[in-house]
Amino acid sequence: MKPIKLLFHSNADSKADWKKRLVALDPSIEVRIWPDVGELSEIEAALVWKPPPGLLAKLPRLKLILSLGMGVDHVFADPALPKHVPIARLVDPDLINRMSEYCALAVLRYHRSADAYDAFQRQRKWKSLSGEPAAANRRVGILGLGEIGRDLASKLAPFGFRLAGWSRTPKQMPGIESFHGDAGFKPFLARSEIVVCLLPLTPETAGILDAEAFAALPKGAVVVNAARGGHVVEPDLVAALDSGHLAAAQLDVFRHEPLPPEHPFWAHPKIRVTPHNAGTTNPDTAADQIVENLRRLRAGETLINVVDPARGY
Ligand code: NDP
Ligand code: OXD
Repeated sequence: MKPIKLLFHSNADSKADWKKRLVALDPSIEVRIWPDVGELSEIEAALVWKPPPGLLAKLPRLKLILSLGMGVDHVFADPALPKHVPIARLVDPDLINRMSEYCALAVLRYHRSADAYDAFQRQRKWKSLSGEPAAANRRVGILGLGEIGRDLASKLAPFGFRLAGWSRTPKQMPGIESFHGDAGFKPFLARSEIVVCLLPLTPETAGILDAEAFAALPKGAVVVNAARGGHVVEPDLVAALDSGHLAAAQLDVFRHEPLPPEHPFWAHPKIRVTPHNAGTTNPDTAADQIVENLRRLRAGETLINVVDPARGY
């Protein structure tokens, strides 16, 4: 196969591990790690996480942008993004599984009042809460029924939860109530005691979890956000928790990452914070599809996992 020059940029992934894995799978890939990439006009493909704005536009022979994540908002965020170049994202079973583990753990924690029992233990209090609902009476809602949302639903279903999902287009999944579009949003929220956000960040979904959305959730609801920080209007979330309308929030993603030390989320008694590691990209499982797309690019074949720029995901 004709050699190909691939630019790699990430401040979050191991450059050495990615290079080793890609070259082991296909020695014809010449991995050039930003900023030591040589002549920019030689680069034909770019494998990136949060590329510096304007970088991709400086690559005149660029034919393919490969996202180092399942989300592509970090690519679309570049105002100078070359619009003619296709963008492929990761669709990685390992990443999907980790995301589902994270979200299922959060759902089970809140379903079984784990925070309350942790507090009882610290107080040396032997106490059971009365009236905890069975899973069959617990209404869990998943925002986004894509690769991750569907996987999470299939993993929560065996517990017997009453599951619903919200998506752009209607879905038919056995045992999962489907809501869609603007008209389905508030009815979906109104029936969801635990809501898990797994939406892509697009102009339509930015700030979707705001005061109005929180008010539409039932009193005592819990919000889990493992998608993107831009989905949540942060002061609105704090206000909904402080007023007692929401019981808790578990957040893996934030508007500013790393979450600044002075941010109120760190010390909020009803917020659980994790450092954007619900799903981490693993070159051992994710590199194959990068190599396959680079092969297809050179062979003139249809690329896989290409996103639709009009939808933004
Ligand atoms: P997909 O693209 O597979 O699915 C997206 C889902 O969201 C689809 O069901 C889609 O509806 C729905 N959706 C999109 N826009 C709208 C809208 N305007 N209104 C209603 N529904 C909408 O996404 P994935 O499951 O692969 O990933 C989801 C996100 O998770 C990623 O974009 C990324 O940001 C985040 N992520 C976070 C990680 C972490 O570590 N925290 C790791 C991996 C991903 P439809 O089916 O009708 O198209
Ligand atoms: C992703 C992420 O989008 O890790 O894959 O956030």
